[in-house]
Amino acid sequence: MVDVVNGAIRNPPARIVVGISGASGVIYGARVLDALKDLGVESHLVVTKAALLTLSQETEMSPDDLTGKADVVYKLGDVGATIASGSFRTLGMIVAPCSVKTMSEIATGVTSSLLTRAADVTLKERRPLVLMVRETPLHLGHLRTMTALTEMGAVIAPPLPALYARPASIMEMVDQSVGRALDLFGLDWSAVKRWDGMK
Ligand SMILES: Cc1cc2nc3c(=O)[nH]c(=O)nc-3n(C[C@H](O)[C@H](O)[C@H](O)COP(=O)(O)O)c2cc1C
Repeated sequence: MVDVVNGAIRNPPARIVVGISGASGVIYGARVLDALKDLGVESHLVVTKAALLTLSQETEMSPDDLTGKADVVYKLGDVGATIASGSFRTLGMIVAPCSVKTMSEIATGVTSSLLTRAADVTLKERRPLVLMVRETPLHLGHLRTMTALTEMGAVIAPPLPALYARPASIMEMVDQSVGRALDLFGLDWSAVKRWDGMK
């Protein structure tokens, strides 16, 4: 993959950082990892402690099942890891799902874990940062934080169902949201049902 920024040719390696935090919908993170595998993109994963709680409540997967889907797995406290440095080249980062806590930490720059540090690095390097924020309803503070992140260059991409795609199952609904989030990196996952006009 080659693109041109300010006249310079970039050919970043096909790798994406994946953060999974403790909002409802850990399955979105799991399917991002599956999709990246399908697409031949290396996944670099960091998972929060709360995400392991949602994993146990929402799925039959073990922590090893989840981390086994990634190419490289980092410890949450390992702020000396490669993905903590902008010199480690990536296509960007996706946080799926993204909790309000993780979103808020990224917005302040007070990054207390490898996940939020990697997100901060992604922003400072002007790489795509996609946050699949999941909370409802939203108070004014949440909305202001989303505005601040958007101003900084992040994309807020809540996992909302695309009912026009007529999902036949929860997994189809999840995959549509995951695929549309990956569109933001220029990746075209075959699970996405694209609008082809009115029938
Ligand atoms: C079953 C369950 C569901 C949760 N759902 C959400 C949610 O949808 N959005 C959210 O922001 N927090 C949610 N939380 C709360 C977060 O897990 C909590 O704020 C946690 O501190 C987030 O930490 P993290 O960002 O480091 O993962 C949920 C917690 C549990 C146990």
